[in-house]
Amino acid sequence: MTDEVERLRVELGERSYDILVGPRLIESAAREIEPLLRRRQVVVVSDETVARHCLPALRGSLSGAGIAHHTVLLPPGEETKDLDHFGRLAEEILAFGIERGTMLVALGGGVVGDVTGFAAATLLRGIDFVQIPTTLLAQVDSSVGGKTGINTRIGKNLIGAFYQPRLVLADTTVLTNLPRRELLAGYAEIVKYGLIRDERFFTWLEAEGDAVCELAPAPLRRAVMTSCAMKAGIVASDEREEGDRALLNFGHTFGHALETETGFSSQLLHGEAVGLGMVLAFDFAARLDLVTVEEAHRVRRHLDKMGLPTRLSTIGLGGIPADRILAHMGKDKKVRNGRIGLILPLRIGEAFVMKDAPLDNLRDFLSGVA
Ligand SMILES: NC(=O)c1ccc[n+]([C@@H]2O[C@H](COP(=O)([O-])OP(=O)(O)OC[C@H]3O[C@@H](n4cnc5c(N)ncnc54)[C@H](O)[C@@H]3O)[C@@H](O)[C@H]2O)c1
Repeated sequence: MTDEVERLRVELGERSYDILVGPRLIESAAREIEPLLRRRQVVVVSDETVARHCLPALRGSLSGAGIAHHTVLLPPGEETKDLDHFGRLAEEILAFGIERGTMLVALGGGVVGDVTGFAAATLLRGIDFVQIPTTLLAQVDSSVGGKTGINTRIGKNLIGAFYQPRLVLADTTVLTNLPRRELLAGYAEIVKYGLIRDERFFTWLEAEGDAVCELAPAPLRRAVMTSCAMKAGIVASDEREEGDRALLNFGHTFGHALETETGFSSQLLHGEAVGLGMVLAFDFAARLDLVTVEEAHRVRRHLDKMGLPTRLSTIGLGGIPADRILAHMGKDKKVRNGRIGLILPLRIGEAFVMKDAPLDNLRDFLSGVA
């Protein structure tokens, strides 16, 4: 391991695991995976796009260490997270003759990570898996914390399991292949950590955000490490989202409503929706006098400067009726007994769960957003 690689532990008792962040980790992946193997058999799951960029290096590393491996490739995109694809994936993996000691490796973005993690949680009643996240979003968010799952026609991520990986390898080199828009979508999740927990980190991002998104090695590594450390800390204290972990959904209830409206299509990426959701949460909190208008402007200004959408009109949703957004928000998992729970800021660096948001104020606010 070079000094450019940093290691972080997610403390979950016997389910604890390491996250490694740094360049060229895929090339030497076998070195980290090998000590975890109970059987020298690995099944790599990836998508076709990621495979083109990253699979040869991973296979080279596994072969070099004499570890038998098979590969299953999925089509890229959110559609891959449905029941049909999951069924086929599960049977393809089983057909390799896997045993309880076989290791799955998820090589890809959040889609591959979620679906592979769910396969690991369920095949043979649970086998080990390693996450090798290849999008910025997956490196700072979805690969850490053990939420796995697939979508249904009724809604997203409604079938799933809490199931922790044995290791996360966040290879920052692979991000050079990622389209800028995908990179920025992941950056929005990085900003989220500053907004909910750490004003100093947000202030640092205001200065260094460009360097992070230009993939300058040191700022990029710091941004990914800080995000993972914050998520790891929250997950360690509340693995099954009974308390503080809900704060990680900051921006998600508004964002999810916008994703529903755009049909979870490429019109609005998940991270973009979260970015817009955070802007709306700050604006609404300013309306409720929880934060100052200046703080809300500061958040919007930063996301704007980075090139993320911060207005509904930019994503073709200007003039959308408030009741439509509210109806979508009402279908979010964070809604209990017809009441809308919202994660709102108290200042930059601190957020809380408002269990019963004032609906009239919310409707009034939403009817004025552009
Ligand atoms: N489990 C969790 O805690 C959690 C948290 C947040 C999001 N998610 C889930 O994550 C998913 C979104 O993840 P995502 O944004 O990574 O999307 P994704 O996995 O669809 O990846 C986005 C696109 O980038 C491509 N790609 C991936 N890595 C690449 C690389 N290095 N170079 C070039 N192209 C690359 C993929 O092929 C895909 O087309 C959603 O399904 C969401 O529900 C899960």
